[in-house]
Amino acid sequence: MINIKEMMIENSIPMKITIIGTGYVGLVSGACFAELGNEVMCLDINPKIISQLKKAKVSFFEPDLQKLVQKNIKKKTLKFTTSYATGCKNNIFFICVDTPDNGFGSPDLKSLNSVLRMLQKKITRDAVLVLKSTLPLGTNNRIAKSMSKHFLLKNIIVDVCSNPEFLKEGSAIKDFMQPDRIILGTPSESSKALLTKLYAPLKSKSTQLFHMSVESAELTKYASNAFLATKISFMNEVALIAEKSGGNIHEVREGMGADRRIGPDFLNAGLGFGGSCFPKDMKALINFEKKNKIKNSIIENALKINQNQVKLFIKKIRSTFGSNLKDKSFVIWGLSFKPNTDDTRDSVAIELIKLIAPSVKSLYLFDPKVKKDSLSKLKKYPNITFLNSQYENFNLANGLIICTEWNDFKDPKINKLAKLQDRVIFDGRNILDSQLMNENNFSYIGIGL
Ligand code: UDX
Repeated sequence: MINIKEMMIENSIPMKITIIGTGYVGLVSGACFAELGNEVMCLDINPKIISQLKKAKVSFFEPDLQKLVQKNIKKKTLKFTTSYATGCKNNIFFICVDTPDNGFGSPDLKSLNSVLRMLQKKITRDAVLVLKSTLPLGTNNRIAKSMSKHFLLKNIIVDVCSNPEFLKEGSAIKDFMQPDRIILGTPSESSKALLTKLYAPLKSKSTQLFHMSVESAELTKYASNAFLATKISFMNEVALIAEKSGGNIHEVREGMGADRRIGPDFLNAGLGFGGSCFPKDMKALINFEKKNKIKNSIIENALKINQNQVKLFIKKIRSTFGSNLKDKSFVIWGLSFKPNTDDTRDSVAIELIKLIAPSVKSLYLFDPKVKKDSLSKLKKYPNITFLNSQYENFNLANGLIICTEWNDFKDPKINKLAKLQDRVIFDGRNILDSQLMNENNFSYIGIGL
């Protein structure tokens, strides 16, 4: 058992923790733990990122994060390093490295494995590793075995815990500071005590702290994401039924969501879910099911429904203009995978643009935060133009396609919309008022409406 007495004394408030990986999960967790009064060392092997972060420059857009990083650098509770020697002065490590899809439906563990190799080299006393990245089921046990084998002769104990995060991009700081729940999968009473103490400041009436096995903690993360994604695909299926039965998906959503057993959240039908989490986590679970001969997968069908959403929407655009779109141009509102972020990873908006660009005359793209430079994947389409402002080129376009549910798009100026040559609006996020659009002689096409 780790020398908890020594660790508790050394880690009385403020606790000294090292965060490895400074992406969404790592930087948000690091800045928030620092804000809670702990001494946080953020370690990343990318010298460019670390030199920027030392100047409080955050490379991605997340509301309020830059301010929080700046504030805690000033308070000297948040520091940055590329050095494992510096990082291993502490003995509580949060592993928050990126585990992107490897293209075969499994998370790529290259970064994780290089971190583990470095920690095996640099750790010199009992330590606690906390896995915060989303890792394939069974990873915790695999790491724990390799750590205990590696450190056995050195008489060092390394506890490997699972503490999945549930941060949503665009509201990550609030999600960290006011979580619905904190999940702690710990292999021993000692690391359980240590992490309970670390998270104590967040425990409140509305925040439950669950202690469980590491296996359950790993699965809770996957199951939560897969359930939310399946809820979205279920509503997209209901939207298809609504279109055939004359129902209105907004009314159905409200009627369903009022049932506490269902809840109002994540019931928005639309172009489908994207981002660096849902699609990847679904694929990883489906892979696990296949390996373990688990059949009739709801999760697999939910992903299939999602992967079909953009194609169904393009069919609507084609059927509105007759199949030939060659002389048609569109303004596209929204490039990020969701609002309040500049993240375009697995964005359905980008997928739609790639699919429709070869069959139309021109596409004019606008997003409040996504920068043109970040979209090298669209460079090969000569008929794409990036707009600097929301209502540019409307007179050159036949219609408007809404792909991301930014607030900026929810109450558009009718007189500006009226410049669209064919006054047609394809609302892939059902954010506009269909009645108002129809009253103003726009052809308004949503999903499930
Ligand atoms: C998600 C989980 O919500 C979060 O708990 C986890 O930690 C990481 O993955 P995130 O990827 O930031 O967070 O996005 P989220 O807000 O969950 O949205 C995911 C996708 O679902 C977006 O593309 C969004 O547009 C779409 N969505 C969301 C819908 O289509 N309908 C909805 O009702 C809600």
